Amino acid sequence: MDRFEKRSLIATLAVLFLFFGLVVYAARGLNVEVPTCLTDVTPHEEGRLIEVGPGRYQLNMIARMWNFEPFEVRVPTGSTVDIYLTSRDVVHGMHIDGTLVNIMAIPGTVSYARVKFDKPGTYQIICHEYCGTAHHTMAGKVIVE
Ligand code: CUA
Repeated sequence: MDRFEKRSLIATLAVLFLFFGLVVYAARGLNVEVPTCLTDVTPHEEGRLIEVGPGRYQLNMIARMWNFEPFEVRVPTGSTVDIYLTSRDVVHGMHIDGTLVNIMAIPGTVSYARVKFDKPGTYQIICHEYCGTAHHTMAGKVIVE
């Protein structure tokens, strides 16, 4: 290995470690939640909001052609909501307007995201994955009060 090869190798490793460090920093330092597909959770049969503690909620969400269940979710301002999303039929998407929530609903699996609602208001939920003729009507809402 000549000097040039050694330098290239060191530079390559340095860039790899830098990128890895930035990913860890984004996750830990900036609290950027990476969407997660949970493989060890059985998809729920029923869509509902469960209060798990003071200001803490678990949202079992079901996406299907062409609605979300529950269609409307109400939580107090400041609540942290853990979203567990699955699909009954085809692949759907779930984006909550005004938040970073952007996950896929895949039949047979559960996708997870956490969101904290600091400001009161109505947040639209939209399906962002084409899922058939009425895709554009597939929506729901979160009301933070
Ligand atoms: Cu569901 Cu598009």
